[in-house]
Amino acid sequence: MKRSLIYLLSAGGLLANGAFAQKVTIPVETAHNAVVLQVSDKNDLVQSYFGEKLNATGDYAQITAGRTSDYTGLYRSAYTPSGSRNLLEPAISIQHADGNQSLDLQYVSHKVDKPSADITITSIQLKDPVYNVQVTLFYKAYLKDDVIEQWSVIRHQEKGEITLQKFASANLNLHGKTYWLRQYHGDWAKEMRPEETQITHGIKTLDSKLGTRANLLMPSMFMVSLNKPATEDEGQVMMAALEWSGNFRTDLELDPEDNLRIMSGINNYASAYKLKPNVDFTTPAFVYTFSNTGKGTASRNLHNWARNYKLMDGKGERLTLLNNWESTYFDFNEQKLFELLKDTKALGVDMFLLDDGWFANKYPRNDDHAGLGDWEENRKKLPNGIASIAREADKDGVKFGIWIEPEMVNPKSALYSKHPDWVIKQPKRDEYYFRNQLVLDLSNPAVQDFVFNVVDSLFIKDPKMAYIKWDCNAVIYNAYSAHLKKDQSQLYVDYVKGLYSVLQRIRKKYPSVPMMLCSGGGGRVDYGALQYFTEFWPSDNTDPLERIYMQWEYSYFYPAITSSNHVTDWGKQPLKYRTDVAMMGKLGFDIVVSKLSPQDLQFAKDAVVNYNAVKSVIWHGDQYRLSDPQTDPVASIMYVDTNKSSAVMFNYLVSSRYDAGPRARTTMKGLNPAKKYTVKEINLYPGTQSSVKAEGTYSGDFLMKIGIDPVIESGRSSVILKIDEAR
Ligand code: GLA
Repeated sequence: MKRSLIYLLSAGGLLANGAFAQKVTIPVETAHNAVVLQVSDKNDLVQSYFGEKLNATGDYAQITAGRTSDYTGLYRSAYTPSGSRNLLEPAISIQHADGNQSLDLQYVSHKVDKPSADITITSIQLKDPVYNVQVTLFYKAYLKDDVIEQWSVIRHQEKGEITLQKFASANLNLHGKTYWLRQYHGDWAKEMRPEETQITHGIKTLDSKLGTRANLLMPSMFMVSLNKPATEDEGQVMMAALEWSGNFRTDLELDPEDNLRIMSGINNYASAYKLKPNVDFTTPAFVYTFSNTGKGTASRNLHNWARNYKLMDGKGERLTLLNNWESTYFDFNEQKLFELLKDTKALGVDMFLLDDGWFANKYPRNDDHAGLGDWEENRKKLPNGIASIAREADKDGVKFGIWIEPEMVNPKSALYSKHPDWVIKQPKRDEYYFRNQLVLDLSNPAVQDFVFNVVDSLFIKDPKMAYIKWDCNAVIYNAYSAHLKKDQSQLYVDYVKGLYSVLQRIRKKYPSVPMMLCSGGGGRVDYGALQYFTEFWPSDNTDPLERIYMQWEYSYFYPAITSSNHVTDWGKQPLKYRTDVAMMGKLGFDIVVSKLSPQDLQFAKDAVVNYNAVKSVIWHGDQYRLSDPQTDPVASIMYVDTNKSSAVMFNYLVSSRYDAGPRARTTMKGLNPAKKYTVKEINLYPGTQSSVKAEGTYSGDFLMKIGIDPVIESGRSSVILKIDEAR
């Protein structure tokens, strides 16, 4: 009796055949998938489907809510309001100008724009029938890449300000028998450690409250598999992330009817946000893709989308480089840099990247305790300034790039003495430092100008400045802004908005200079920032064995072209192994070139030449994972160009057990079965021969079904194969 009453209450206009009297059906489709929104007879917008699309768009109208014990009609809300009927985690929560905390959101209208043949933008207007508050939900669908970006815009016409207490970007519903979450955690030098678990009832929250360097302990990327953990080539899997470079929060709630609700957005922790009448509050985009054929497809979807639409210069070129961080740390002078420029040339890479330590005079930057914020050249180390290094680089025929960390300040700096009010710190509490430094208050327009000028002045000193490494080493402690006065709870949000505003100004004036997003390693890696950056620094940990695992996990979400990989002295592996791993992305070196043995130097030079021959396949091709280092003694990954005429396959021994390494051949993926290919080992160490038996030509069919033995064993712990269409 009770159950049928509930059923009728929630079902409202139940029809004789069991279908809801749905008023409107709004399918958001991509090439293979669909998210379907429907307006219930109670005028609520619900999300009734997420998954593989139907052949006929009209069929979505037949979706029914099925049997349900939803007391509220909101379990599947497309944007769950709070304070009215809801019983579950809301997407939005507000306090009205009169102090009331209730919100109801009813469907008003929707429209679909098609800005290009490959993109649709579906926007759905919702409004509260009692209070003058409107929310517009946006679904931007990238058809070919099977990617959707989702965000919301909140607006009101109340008398006075309303306070946004929670303001998610997206609210999704997934339906499966079970749900498997793959999430990431980490710390300095330990980025992207995966954990995969079944989601149980209640709420699992992934979040950051660190402000800056927000991903130090956890990034916003995650994946959810339906029914069982997806493998590389099988299973239903959603991959997602928030495009926001600050505090984020994703709630995964298994609801009473065993559907998975996902609410993702800016973290509302300490962030109640005041909104004036008729001003839009636009949430950042939540990006996701879905695949019925495992993680490989899903990751290639994100790679293509990123390179086509999101990543700065996603289809462009990148510069190989020599960096001086680990070879000199803070200890260098002009003469030393001149020598490094010569090493850059000798190695054959494109650019020399001058790292930390080149600036500050009153408190010279000779270690990480002083100088941050004082961006004039240190007169002792660089008596003739950056301009002199740039001139010398020009003479040597190499490009020149530089490190900055413009959002930060050491208390021991002229900047701190001059503008203590620009620094995020509690006025009445002791300062607390992260790497001996504090964060500048980017919610303050004067600080935004300062940060912009740090970059702008580099181009005044060297108009040909070829590259910027933008670091961000500290988290926000003692969050307090002298600028925001009574609006302290806006600091975390306004900081990121201020950062984006500076980056937009930089990109307007310097649209093409490549910039690396670094945050003491991978402390800030997200697609909000990558609109302005060409690449990121995955981790200070460059031990190649560690990097194999780390780059593997990053690669689910970010294409190889974004991954700056430097060959350093971290790890026990030989130079070849270290270099091969660094090649799976954007290659750089941070070693003392002058101390390399003649063979090592020869190898490194040859490696740069070899890399130049395959880099465009790695950067712009499709990535396939062949052998998983989490489960196999060998990691194998290949990249295939979009014509399927050229590929490169990387293989690494990751086990030190006796006689580890596969006895079997490794089958390839992504080739054209009908084409004929040659297979050749490249990047051999001087004086060594290949053990790979691959004479003549092979069909793609053969290589993908039978495969080739890369002969991985101790003594041959790293092998690169180049696969080319036979002409
Ligand atoms: C951070 C970066 C390093 C290096 C140092 C310089 O730790 O991740 O690559 O630039 O700062 O201080």
